[in-house]
Amino acid sequence: MRVLSGIQPTGRFHWGNYFGAIQQYIDLQDNDQAFYFIADLHALTTVRDAQTLRGFTQDAAIDLLALGLDPERATLFRQSDVPEVTELTWLLMTVTQMSLLEKCHAYKDKIAKGLAADAGLFTYPVLMAADILIYDSDVVPVGLDQVQHIEVTRDLAQRFNHIYDTEVFVLPKAQVLESSAKVPGTDGEKMSKSYDNTIEVFEATKKQRKKIMSIKTDSTPVEDPKDPDSCAVYTLFRLFSTEDEQAELAERYRAGGMGYGEAKKLLHEHALAYFAEARQRRADLEAHPERVEEILQNGAAQARNKAAEVLDRARTACGLKSRSH
Ligand code: TRP
Repeated sequence: MRVLSGIQPTGRFHWGNYFGAIQQYIDLQDNDQAFYFIADLHALTTVRDAQTLRGFTQDAAIDLLALGLDPERATLFRQSDVPEVTELTWLLMTVTQMSLLEKCHAYKDKIAKGLAADAGLFTYPVLMAADILIYDSDVVPVGLDQVQHIEVTRDLAQRFNHIYDTEVFVLPKAQVLESSAKVPGTDGEKMSKSYDNTIEVFEATKKQRKKIMSIKTDSTPVEDPKDPDSCAVYTLFRLFSTEDEQAELAERYRAGGMGYGEAKKLLHEHALAYFAEARQRRADLEAHPERVEEILQNGAAQARNKAAEVLDRARTACGLKSRSH
């Protein structure tokens, strides 16, 4: 079985990215053939500065490896290192109905805000379909917001198969990731870059502390009992602690006499301990960019093998000269 997912390099990873997705990708890597790529072609629709994009891409690779993605078990690569994917995007584009793309949320939301969308954003789901179909992916773990794109992928695969009367493409299934909505940000809303309420995984300790201290809490006085379950600090604390530790802190909330500042301090201590090893691994990798590049190159070579095979099937099906002839 092939598991595949892509991650856009549009900024540093935050706790929401980690608990909502990355941790689950890493758990899935023991699966036969997990493919994970850094979707730099997709990021071009929003990141419009070369150095920034290069930096985000490199950081994404280092962060994923530091967090436990194991290149011995999973294949990690840069999307743009597999040029076959852009050719397949064109083939799929020729069977894509405009009306299908007009319904896709990224484009629709932008238009609804009165903003002008470019063709890259409009056709973004087709590139994503190519990403998935080109590796014969069976399962695509994604957040809820990407499920629509998997539907589009299935639709395009079926249309292509039907038009050319062949079974060129495998139909993938979405696997919706758990808890992608359960990580609150500093304002209590879902943690997301677009809300500017994130806490980054590898943020400098002091800066991270400041952000944690700024988490919004209610104005219950120190001595009064507090409700842990409606508190973002407690919800975040749960991500980094054992059940016993959670029960203990919940008890202190309910007993009164503990201020939110103290809960925040505890949260930070636990978060630092939780990511301590990853931080160490990250520092090592950062000092050895050549190792990271080698991992990405090996990953790309493996991915291209598979991509060439599937692209060849698609080219043959639609009457382009097959690569093998
Ligand atoms: N669009 C996805 C996101 O923003 C990233 C992505 C690109 C992706 N290609 C993919 C995810 C293929 C899964 C499969 O999160």
